[in-house]
Amino acid sequence: MTSTAAPRRVLWTHATLATFAGERDWGLVNDGALLVEGEQLRWAGPAAELPAELRAGVADTHDLGGALVTPGLIDCHTHLVYGGERSAEFELRLQGATYEEIARAGGGIRSTVAATRAAGEAELHALAVPRARALMAEGLTTLEVKSGYGLSLADEAKCLRVARQLAALGLTVRTTCLGAHALPPEFEGRQDEYVDAVCGWLPELQRQGLVDAVDVFCERIAFTPAQTRRVFEAARALGLPVKLHAEQLSDQGGAALAAEFGALSCDHLEWLSEDGIAAMARAGTVAVLLPGAFYFLRETKLPPVQALRDAGVPIALATDHNPGSSPGLSLLLMLNMACTFFRMTPEEALRGLTVNAARALGLPDRGRLVAGLRADFCIWNAAHPRELAYWFGRNPLRQVVVGGRPRA
Ligand code: NIG
Ligand code: FE
Repeated sequence: MTSTAAPRRVLWTHATLATFAGERDWGLVNDGALLVEGEQLRWAGPAAELPAELRAGVADTHDLGGALVTPGLIDCHTHLVYGGERSAEFELRLQGATYEEIARAGGGIRSTVAATRAAGEAELHALAVPRARALMAEGLTTLEVKSGYGLSLADEAKCLRVARQLAALGLTVRTTCLGAHALPPEFEGRQDEYVDAVCGWLPELQRQGLVDAVDVFCERIAFTPAQTRRVFEAARALGLPVKLHAEQLSDQGGAALAAEFGALSCDHLEWLSEDGIAAMARAGTVAVLLPGAFYFLRETKLPPVQALRDAGVPIALATDHNPGSSPGLSLLLMLNMACTFFRMTPEEALRGLTVNAARALGLPDRGRLVAGLRADFCIWNAAHPRELAYWFGRNPLRQVVVGGRPRA
């Protein structure tokens, strides 16, 4: 005799829930309960309202004693897989050299490309794992990783494979091809040919199942809007969504271009114009703000947070972890910096690491504590969600649940 086993039901009670169920506010629920069925949330809300028929089938109950529960944290913009480090460049910048000057002199991204090309896949994996674990220690459940330090088909594929392997740690990993990150030395003086090459890699990377989205660094020191358009056209022909490193150091009109392609997100955005904001609002493109890069490059030009709010553009946050402009691995610090530097509210900041980060990755199945979504959530030793943006250098994480299962 065989029977089809129903997914196991697990109930989490006595929780303070920050559900983000609506478009505004925390969606705070005191004395809340979460009913998990298999990998999904079957029900979330005030414990007193849990339907009796759902409670009936519960196999296991965890009493959280009033602890805070939030959606699992999502880092929607990282460059986590690379060789080497750039502390010498940090010293140069402290002595007055700018990020742009270092890049033009052949340092910057190019120096990381040399170290990444020289590293084997196992070595890159060994370097990436502790970085991912550091993010996980603060509640990471979904991670985006960009290529862009390989800059050849083989080296980009190598980095994307390493990124995908990180899923074995107990995460969802999304990979983005950022072949158009910098010009590799062998293409010196042949920038358009390099762009053709990047466009040519995309079908192969897609065939190998290594790419969920395509990104470009559109900037004076990187690729022009016209070159960006060509990469986006190649992505569109393959049905791949696009994202853009836009208006980080100057206004290139990149955000408006990306919006024209229905981009999932435009990221950085310190120099974003009114036109760019309007185009993003029309397209539903998420603004991903990166306080780590803003801080570490000692930028003074603030992203236009109030104008983004006024236009109704969803705002996400991310670490932008990379060895040049943001060598940090703390999502909680991003919450704090988004509030102190960018004057976001703690609620906007946490929304930016959950529901809006999910949007920036095109993942509507997560980011809120709502029935039907993935059961990815964090349990914190905190009474109110604003505490997550308040403390810095202190980690109140108690436990993470991924796909319905407590992570060891
Ligand atoms: O997001 N802006 C371009 N790319 C990275 C920096 C990469 C690097 O400096 O290695 C960023 O800030
Ligand atoms: Fe970046």
